[in-house]
Amino acid sequence: TELSNIRNFSIVAHIDHGKSTLADRLIQMTGTVAERDMKAQLLDSMDIERERGITIKANTVRIDYPAKDGQTYVLNLIDTPGHVDFSYEVSRSMQAVEGSLLVVDSTQGVEAQTLANVYQAIDANHEIVPVLNKVDLPASDCARVAEQIEDVIGIDASNSIHISAKTGVGIPDVLEAIVTRLPAPKGDRNAPLKAMLVDSYYDAYLGVVVIIRVIDGVIKKGDRIKMMKTGGQYPVEKLGVFRPQMQDIAELGPGEIGFLTASIKQVRDTRVGDTITTEKKGCEVPLPGFKPSIPVVFCGLFPVDSAEFDDLRNAIEKLALNDASFSYEMESSAALGFGFRCGFLGLLHLEVIRDRIEREYNIDLITTAPSVVYHVFMKDGEMIELHNPADMPDLSKVDHLEEPRIKATIMVPDEYLGDVLKLCQDRRGVQLDLTYAGARAMAVYDLPLNEVVFDFYDRLKSVTKGYASFDYQMSGYQEDQLVKMQILVNDEPVDALSIMVHRTRAETRGRAMCEKLKELIPRHMFKIPIQAAIGGKVIARETLAALRKDVTAKCYGGDATRKRKLLEKQKAGKKKMRQFGRVEIPQEAFINALKMD
Ligand code: GTP
Repeated sequence: TELSNIRNFSIVAHIDHGKSTLADRLIQMTGTVAERDMKAQLLDSMDIERERGITIKANTVRIDYPAKDGQTYVLNLIDTPGHVDFSYEVSRSMQAVEGSLLVVDSTQGVEAQTLANVYQAIDANHEIVPVLNKVDLPASDCARVAEQIEDVIGIDASNSIHISAKTGVGIPDVLEAIVTRLPAPKGDRNAPLKAMLVDSYYDAYLGVVVIIRVIDGVIKKGDRIKMMKTGGQYPVEKLGVFRPQMQDIAELGPGEIGFLTASIKQVRDTRVGDTITTEKKGCEVPLPGFKPSIPVVFCGLFPVDSAEFDDLRNAIEKLALNDASFSYEMESSAALGFGFRCGFLGLLHLEVIRDRIEREYNIDLITTAPSVVYHVFMKDGEMIELHNPADMPDLSKVDHLEEPRIKATIMVPDEYLGDVLKLCQDRRGVQLDLTYAGARAMAVYDLPLNEVVFDFYDRLKSVTKGYASFDYQMSGYQEDQLVKMQILVNDEPVDALSIMVHRTRAETRGRAMCEKLKELIPRHMFKIPIQAAIGGKVIARETLAALRKDVTAKCYGGDATRKRKLLEKQKAGKKKMRQFGRVEIPQEAFINALKMD
C-alpha cells in the first residue's frame, strides 16, 4: 500500500468512555466483519478483560475505508492497554502510530487515566482528534467537556467530533477525520528493514505471534530476521494482518502494521520496543527508547491446598509464557509451605494474574502482602534489592534503606477533595500540585509506593464514593527510615506477615495488626500471645484468651445431623487454615491483617 493511503491511529480513553464500542463501530461500518460475526466487543478477547473493562494486551485491526475523495485507505487501529501498569507498552503502541482519537464521555469529562495516555500521545507527536461520545444521553454536555479538554489537556477542541458509539451517530465523520486530519506515515521502502516490535502473545497453534510496525524497508515471508536487542534470529513463517481475524499477506512495507510468526518459543524472547531487522544487510541503528519492563511489586502466591503445588507451577509457567513482564521464582515459607514469589508491573497486573490462576486454573490461593522492591545499602558498600521482607539482612550490617516513590495524579469532584488530601497525607504523601478545572480538582502527589500497594485504591474509592480517578508513574528511589516488622503468634514468627514499614508508622501498624489478628484467629484450648516486633523488640501485644471447654461441649452435643453439618463445615474450614506450631491461622487473616483502616 502507498504511504499516502495509510493512516495509523490509536484510541485514547478513560475506562467506560466508549473506546471498545467505537472500535467495534469503525470495524462494523467499514464492513470488515459481517454483522453476525460481531461479538459484543471484538477487541477485548479475554473474558477477564471484558469483565474488568480493561484492555491488557494491545490488539490491532486493519480496516479498508473508501473515503469521500474516492480513494480507498488502509486504516490501522492499535488498541492500547488502558492501565498505568502497562505504561511502557502504551508508549510503544503510541510510537507505532501517527495519530490518536481522544474519546471522552460527554456526560463525564476528562479523567486521570485519559490524561496519562493523552500525554503519551502528545509525547509521540500525535495529531489528536477529540471525539465526544455518548451524545445520545440527556446528560451529554459537549460544550462543557470541550472546554475542559482545552483547559486541562491544552489541545484545541473546537473541532471535536460529536458521536454516539452506541447509536452510530457521527461515526462516518470519525472515519473521514482519520483520513483528512491524521498524517500519513513516512518511511523508505528501499532502506534496510527496520520494524518495531509492538506486542506479542502466545498462541497454542502458531507459537509466539509478534505484532510489528514497519518503519523502513519491506518484510516478506521467508526473510531471516534479527531482533536487535535480544539477538534472536528467526525465519519468518507467516506474515499477515488482523481484520480482526488473521489474514495472510505477501509483504508488509513502510507504514504498515501486521503480525509475523517465526517459530519463536516464548514471549520472553520478544521484547516490546525491540527493533526487528534482517539478519543480513540489516539496519545499523535500532529504534530509540527501548526499555525492558521491570517488576515493581512482589508477593508470594501459595496454594491453599499444598497438594495443588504442581498445578500452581503449571499455571504460573503457562501464564508467564504469554507475559514477559511477570516474573516468578520458587519460595518456601515455614508458614505457607511451597509456593512462588512473583513480580508484577503493578497492583492491577498482580490482581489480573491472581484472578486468572484462581478462575482459569481453579486453584485457591493465599496471596501474601504485596511488597515493593527496597534498595538495602550494606555497610560494606554493597546494594541488595529486597523483594521479600523475610529476606531482610541483619540490621547491624545495614547502613540505610531506600524505597521507591511515585508521582500520583488524582482527579476528584471538589466535595471529596478534603478526604483525598487527608488520605495522601496519611500515606506520607508530599503535595506537588493542586489545580481546579470546573468542579473537579486535580491533585498531584509524591507518594511512597509501599503506602499505595496495599489498599490505597480501595480507600480512595471508598472516600470518594468511586468518583476519583487515579494514575501514577514511578519517580525514583529515596532514603527513608524503614524497618522490618515481624509478627509473632504464640512466640513463633509468621514470616508471611512480615512487612517493611516506616519507623513512625510501625507502632500504629503493629498494634492494628495484632488487634486484627486477635479477631481473625479462632480461639484455641490455650492462651495465645500475638506480638509485633522490630529486631527482637516487641512494640505491640494482644492476647487471645483460651477457649472454655464447656463451649465446645455445647456445640457438639445432641442432634446428629447438626453435629455432622458442623463437622463438615469444620473440614471445609480446615482447608483454609494454616498450622503454625500449635496454632491454626485462617488464610484470610494474611490479607485482612495487613489492611489499614
Ligand atoms: P473499557 O473497555 O472498559 O476500557 O471501556 P471502553 O472505553 O472500551 O468503554 P466501552 O466501549 O466498553 O463502553 C462502556 C459503556 O458505555 C458500555 O456499557 C457501552 O455500551 C456504553 N456506551 C459506549 N458508547 C456509548 C454511547 O455512545 N452512548 C451510550 N448511551 N452508551 C455508550
